[in-house]
Amino acid sequence: MPFCQVVKMLYLCSPMQKKLFIESYGCAMNFSDSEIVASLLTDKGYLVTADFKQADLILVNTCAIRENAELRVRNRLKEFNSVKKYNPSLMIGVMGCMAERLKSRLLEEEKSVDLVVGPDSYRDLPRLIEEVEGGQKAVNVLLSREETYADINPVRLDSNGVSAFISIMRGCDNMCSFCVVPFTRGRERSRDPESILAEARDLLAKGYREVTLLGQNVDSYKFASVNFARLLEMVALLSSELRVRFSTSHPKDITDEVLYTMAKYDNICKNLHLPVQSGNSTVLGRMNRGYTREWYLDRIAAVRRIVPDCAISTDIITGFCGETEAEYRDTISLMEKVKYDFAYMFAYSERPGTLAQRNYQDDISAEVKQTRLAEVVALQQTHSALRTRTGLGKTHRVLVETISKKSAAQLSGRNSQNSVVVFDKQDYKKGDYVNVLAESCTVATLIGRPVTEAVFR
Ligand code: 5AD
Ligand code: SF4
Repeated sequence: MPFCQVVKMLYLCSPMQKKLFIESYGCAMNFSDSEIVASLLTDKGYLVTADFKQADLILVNTCAIRENAELRVRNRLKEFNSVKKYNPSLMIGVMGCMAERLKSRLLEEEKSVDLVVGPDSYRDLPRLIEEVEGGQKAVNVLLSREETYADINPVRLDSNGVSAFISIMRGCDNMCSFCVVPFTRGRERSRDPESILAEARDLLAKGYREVTLLGQNVDSYKFASVNFARLLEMVALLSSELRVRFSTSHPKDITDEVLYTMAKYDNICKNLHLPVQSGNSTVLGRMNRGYTREWYLDRIAAVRRIVPDCAISTDIITGFCGETEAEYRDTISLMEKVKYDFAYMFAYSERPGTLAQRNYQDDISAEVKQTRLAEVVALQQTHSALRTRTGLGKTHRVLVETISKKSAAQLSGRNSQNSVVVFDKQDYKKGDYVNVLAESCTVATLIGRPVTEAVFR
C-alpha cells in the first residue's frame, strides 16, 4: 500500500476529525452551493455526516424567496440549538440567501447562530470558523462581481450517482419586482466554459449519466464568445451517453438558437422550465418581467414548432400586488392554452427591500391569494395528468436512477421529458438506459415494461 494511502486511512479513522452536517433549503442552486462548501471544508479536514447530533459544525443553507422558507429555517435552528446543551462546542452557521438578506441581524435574532456567511464568501469559511473557535461570532456577507467557484470540485451530497448539478453562472441582473434574489445573490456572472466542461467530463468518468446546468437565467450566460446555445452544444458533444438538462430559462431571453440546439441533439433533454409568473400583461409589467402575455405565448409557439416533443414547466404566482379578478383569470386562461406538464405554484409573499415592496401595496388578502392558488393547483393537476397520459402506448428511453419507492422489484428513472417511469427491475441497474413501453400511469408517473434487451451503455 503506498504511503499516502496509509496516511489517508489513518486520517479518515481519526476520532479527532471534525464532522460537518449541512442542510439545504430552496432552489437547486442552493443544493449545488452546499456541494461547493462541502468540498471546501473536506479539504480542511472535515468529514460530512448525515446525523446532525454527531456534528461539530452545522451549516444551514437557506432560502429567502418567501417568508415561509425563512420561518422553516428559524424553527429548524431551534432544534439544532438543543444539541448545544450536550455539545457546547457545536458551531451553528447560516449560509445562503437568508444570511445575505439579514446579515449580522441574524446573530441578534437567533442566539444559537455563531456564523453568518453569504453566497459569495464561502472561501472565507475556514477563517470564519477559526474566529468562532476563538470565541467570537463571525460574519462575511460580501458580494462579489467575479466569484464563480470555477476551480472547486464539488463533493456530491445526497447523490444517486447518476445525475448531478453543474452551476454555470451566479447572481441575477433582472430585478423582477417580487424577487429578493438579485439582492441576496448579487450581480450576474458566468463561469468559464472550460471549467464547466471539465466538471462534466469528470462526472461522466465517475459514472454519472446526466447533468443539469444551473443558473437563475441561463439564457443570459455569456463568457467571451460563448453564449448559452454554444455552451449547451459543447456539453452535449462530450458524449451521447450524457444527458443534458438546464434550468432556469427566461421568456424574455430564450432564443430560437437554444431551441434549435435542443432539437439537434438527442441527449439534450426535451424539457424546458419557462416561468410565466402571470398570464396578464399588466401584472407582468408590475412584476418587471420584461415580456407580455403575447410575447410569452409566441415563445411557447416557437418551442412547439422547433422542439415538438418538448415538455414545458413553469412557475406561477397568485395574488401579486393589485391583481384583479380579471387579471387573475388571464393566468387561468394562459394555463388552459399552454397545458403545462408541470408547475411550481406560489401565493405572493412580500419580501423586504424588493421593488414591489417599495412601489406597490401587498393588497390582496391571504384568503384570496390562497383561493386563487388552490384553483391554479387543481387545474395544473388535470393538465399534468393529461400530459402524462399522452406518454401511454409509447416507448421511452429511461435513464435508471434508483429502486422504486413502492417496490424493491422495480426501478425508477426519467424519460427525456422528465416524467418518472417505473418498470420491473430484471437485470437492469442504476445508470442504464432502458427502452420502456408505458402501459399505465398515475398523475405524474408512467408505469411500463422494458421492450428490448438493448441497454444503451
Ligand atoms: N412570492 C412568491 N413567489 C415568489 N417567487 C419568487 N419570489 C416570490 C415571492 N416574493 C417564485 C417565482 C420564481 C420562483 C423561484 O419563486 O415564481 O420563479
Ligand atoms: Fe428572481 Fe427574476 Fe432573477 Fe428569477 S429572473 S432570480 S425571478 S429576479
